[in-house]
Parts: sequence; C-alpha cells; structure tokens
Amino acid sequence: MTPALWGGRFEGELDAHFASFNRSLGFDARLLEQDVAGSRAWAAALARAGVLTADERDEIDRGLRAVLDQASARPDMAANSPAEDVHSFVEDALRGQVGELAGKLHTGRSRNDQVATDLRMHLSVLGGELVAGVEHLVEALVELAEETAALPIPGYTHLQRAQPLTVGHHLLAYVEMLSRDRGRLVDALERMDECPLGSGALAGTAFPIDREALAARLGFARVTHNSLDAVSDRDFACELLFAASLAMVHLSRFAEDWIFFATQEAGFLTLSDAVATGSSLMPQKKNPDALELVRGKCGRVIGDLQGLLVTLKGLPLAYDKDLQEDKEALFDGLDTLRACLRVTATTVRSARFDADRCRAEASRGYLNATDLADLLVAHGVPFREAHERTGKAVRDALELGVELEELPAHVLATTCGDLEVDLAAELSVDRVLARRASIGGTSPDRVAREVERWKDRLASWES
Ligand code: ARG
Repeated sequence: MTPALWGGRFEGELDAHFASFNRSLGFDARLLEQDVAGSRAWAAALARAGVLTADERDEIDRGLRAVLDQASARPDMAANSPAEDVHSFVEDALRGQVGELAGKLHTGRSRNDQVATDLRMHLSVLGGELVAGVEHLVEALVELAEETAALPIPGYTHLQRAQPLTVGHHLLAYVEMLSRDRGRLVDALERMDECPLGSGALAGTAFPIDREALAARLGFARVTHNSLDAVSDRDFACELLFAASLAMVHLSRFAEDWIFFATQEAGFLTLSDAVATGSSLMPQKKNPDALELVRGKCGRVIGDLQGLLVTLKGLPLAYDKDLQEDKEALFDGLDTLRACLRVTATTVRSARFDADRCRAEASRGYLNATDLADLLVAHGVPFREAHERTGKAVRDALELGVELEELPAHVLATTCGDLEVDLAAELSVDRVLARRASIGGTSPDRVAREVERWKDRLASWES
C-alpha cells in the first residue's frame, strides 16, 4: 500500500470503495508527461530559490526522467498502481528512484496548482491537434470544391428544391464554418496560455519562486496573476469544449447534408466503401455509417460541455474536488472531435459526385423560376407582379408537364408577354448559376476565386 499523501493528520484507513471512487489515475494518467515536465521545472525553481541543493535537484531530475521512461515503456505501470492520481503516482515512482529525497519535491506546491498546470499543458498539445485536424478537413473540402466549382446541384430551403447551386459553393459553406471553428480554438488556446504553477493550494507559494522563469521553461506565454483564480479556473476547458461542440454541430450538419445526397432519392453522391457498411440482412444496402456516427457523436460532445458547466456552477473558491470531474468530459469531447474531423476528411477525400445526375436534377423542377421573374423585371415589371406572373407560368408548365423554358410561346405570352429573349439559353442552369457572380454568390467563376482565396488562407495557416 502506498502511503497516503496526508498521513500525519489521519489514523484510519480509506474505505476501499471510497478509495476507488476517489481515484482519478484511470483517466488522468494521460497527463503523465506534463506532470513530469512540470515537476522537473518545479525542482529547478526550488533549487534557484535555495530550497534544494544543485545535487538534490539533479538527482530528482534524473529520477523524474527515469519515471517517465519507465512508465512510457510500460503503460500497465500506471494502470496497476494503487496511487490516487497521476500526481501521487509520479511522486511514488520518484520515491522508488531517489528514496526519501522525493519528499522534498512537493515543497511549496499543491496538487491544485499542479493539476491546473498539467491540464493546460496537455490541452495545448491536444488543442494544436484539433486545429491541425480542422485545417486538414478544410484542405480536403477546398480541393473537392475546386473540382466541383462549376458542377450544378439543386439547392434547398425547407428541404424543398429552391435554386441551383454549384457543388463547390455548398462545400465552401462548410469551409466558412470550419474556419470560424479554427479561429475559436486558436483564440481559446491563446487565452489559456498562462502558467498557474506557483499558486500553491490557493494563496500562492511561500518560497521565492521565479514564476516567470518557471512559466517560460514550461513553454507558457504568461503567468496567472491571482492564485485563487488560477487553481479554480476551468474557463479554458469550457471554452475548448464550446469550440468543440460548435465544430461538432457543423460536422453534424455536413453529415446530414451528405447522408441525404447519398440517398437513392437524391443520388448526387456515392460514398466510398471505405467509410460505409453493409447490412447483415439486406444484401443490397450501403449505409453511411461514418457520417451517421459523426452526426450522433455531436450530442455527446454537447453533453460534455453541459456537464462541465453544471459542475462548475456554484463551486466556492478555491479548489474543490468537484473539479476532478472536468477531465473525463474534456478528454471525451476533444478526443471525439479529433476522431470526427479525421473520419470526415476521409469521407470527403474518397467520395464521388455523380456529375450527370447532379446537373440533370439541377436543370429541372422550375429551379429557374426566380430567373424568369428577374427577366420580367428587366422588362420593367415590378418584382412583386413578376413573381405573380411567373407563378402562373409555373402552374401552366406543371399542367403541361414541361419546364418553363419549354412552354409554347403562346402559352407563355398569356402570363409573361413576349420577353424577346432566347428563353432556353437564359433559363439554362449554367446561365442561372453564372448570374450569381457577386461576392458570396454561387457562380462557377466566383467559386473558383473563393477556392483561390481559401488556398491562400490555408498557406497562411501553415506558416
Ligand atoms: N486529482 C485531482 C484533480 O484532478 C488533483 C488535485 C487534487 N487536489 C486536492 N486537493 N485533493 O482535480
């Protein structure tokens, strides 16, 4: 049995059930690398403050490096340890290396400032991976948008066919969302970049620690300036989980659009076998499981955020053990986003649009009705009246079972008069698309320009 960290005041043993209830090592062992780095920096800071001799510091440093090497080589070492959390695990293992000298390391430090520091360091790595994951997906979407900048597809509002779009334009809508997600992550990571170590349990450390040097050694941009806030603040966790939740909402909406595109009813898109599954019963089925899981996991990440916010609400300053509940939500939410970004990028890279079908479906069903009304407007008809007349023309076309541009001239004349234009050309899907060329529009030229803009953005993100 490892000695409890607080032996002196206590006579009794921990209840076995409580001990396992209290234990976080199962989910905080992933902070090991950061805990060792933080401890090495703390030992150096203690030596500079005159608490450790140079020899003691070097011996502790050697011991900590050995702990990390051993635990990395044998992941079961932490799993099998009876230690309460990663911090006590590292201290126990250090004792195995350097004996009682290990007891000097915790001078002036608390697990409260320790865990806040470890967590920020760990999240800075994980957050960087999320930013890279978003960039990867953006790259995949932009590449596909370049190939499909001129490919027509029906656009929907209320899930009713509305006006033609280019596939590239639809893809770049998600690029806009993901770029905002990236911005939110980068922003949260920047705000998180402050080192709490040296805040002690709640009131600051009583030893002359150079906190700025300590922060710099650990790679932080700044130090925290209020010890009470520093040990109890989990804003960074909430901010990252919110950024992750909103990114998941975007991925979920994308998944829904593509699940629909891949139905036999729409038939716009074929998903690769690599990201679909079959049915155990129905031999003909091909199911979009990857996208459905992305859509489904969105709820779970939002739940992680919700859970953490409710945990924090009403917590008195400073540290409370409730805060140990931050980690599972945080890791689950961020790991989930990371996995979803990856599988979505694979889905995008391997999908194939059916160009003939997309074009054919965008070219029928009166998606050009607005453009007929606009032609009337060009003849001086007020838009409201043009709308009314075009609506009647649509009714005539429905009755005859033809498209607007196929209406016999004498029938069209009853609602629209003589428009004196080549209606087939003016209402063709390519003309309809080409007209929407102003900034933000769906025309192939505009989308091609937006693709170039996004390529520049991607290059600037890389540097
Ligand atoms: N395992 C704890 C956590 O994750 C570490 C801090 C414990 N501090 C304490 N005073 N019991 O929050």
